[in-house]
Amino acid sequence: MTQFIVENIDNQTAKNEAWLILHSGRERKKCCLGKIPEDVNPDILKHKIVLFVNIEDKGKYYFANWLDMVILNREDIEQDSPLLKIKLKGDIDSKQLLSRLLQIVSETEMPPFWKVFFKSDAVAEAIKDYEKFPAGAKVHHPWENGLSSHTEEALTAYAQLSKVYYLKEIKHHVCIAALLFHDWGKTLEYSLTSSWSYTDDMPLFGHVYMSAKKICSLLNEFRQGYDFENEEQERQAIRDIQFAEHCILAHHGIKGYGSPVVPATVEAFMVHIADLISARVQMFDMATHMEQNNYLGTMIIKE
Ligand SMILES: [Fe+2]
Ligand SMILES: [Fe+2]
Repeated sequence: MTQFIVENIDNQTAKNEAWLILHSGRERKKCCLGKIPEDVNPDILKHKIVLFVNIEDKGKYYFANWLDMVILNREDIEQDSPLLKIKLKGDIDSKQLLSRLLQIVSETEMPPFWKVFFKSDAVAEAIKDYEKFPAGAKVHHPWENGLSSHTEEALTAYAQLSKVYYLKEIKHHVCIAALLFHDWGKTLEYSLTSSWSYTDDMPLFGHVYMSAKKICSLLNEFRQGYDFENEEQERQAIRDIQFAEHCILAHHGIKGYGSPVVPATVEAFMVHIADLISARVQMFDMATHMEQNNYLGTMIIKE
């Protein structure tokens, strides 16, 4: 039987002599077992998922397809195996996501209503389960903490992009709110009881619609309890909430990818782009449809 060591996407278990485990989004309950050869520098093993080492041929690295791997059921692992102590999680949990959000909010100009909203318990409560879900079953961030990691990455990407001078005037609070909740519906779309299988909410509603609905109900409920200085401020908040809703409905960019509308504002376009940056860059770490760029020696995604 050929065994592989597999680099862990979770970046928390890659240590010499440690066991590694592969967390596949498609087969969450299954894992691929192996052991790092002593002569392998653990630093090399960080952050890549498509890099495998055949332990029968120590130190030889190559790219392999998921299907080539030895897959063992979790139930087949011995009780005292260190594998069972490994927590399968991505980098960013919900608490870290919240602190990134608050940091971005503190550095961004926005109307007081939005500042108070982002700091509210209602927001912390609404995102607290992100760490339990993947951002996708197969395509990107398919692991526990995937949704919190992806949301944090998209927010961070946006915060950087928004510094460009011609974006300075756009409504950052609209984009930040939309990014924070753009995939909220995935907490309803995926089942926690089995391997990221879909619930009925996926075919019935889809996360785009459910996320848009969530941001409307959350923000409007918060607005009703908020003490605006004047009517105009509240009117503006109502308008901005509609624009945030639009951003979420349009975040997949085109109707063919499940968005009922295409981006009609710069804010919606930026939300789409920030989401895409996080999703696509992470796909580079996981894609099996890669080919080598002979000049650079890099692996690129073959569309
Ligand atoms: Fe989405
Ligand atoms: Fe997303």
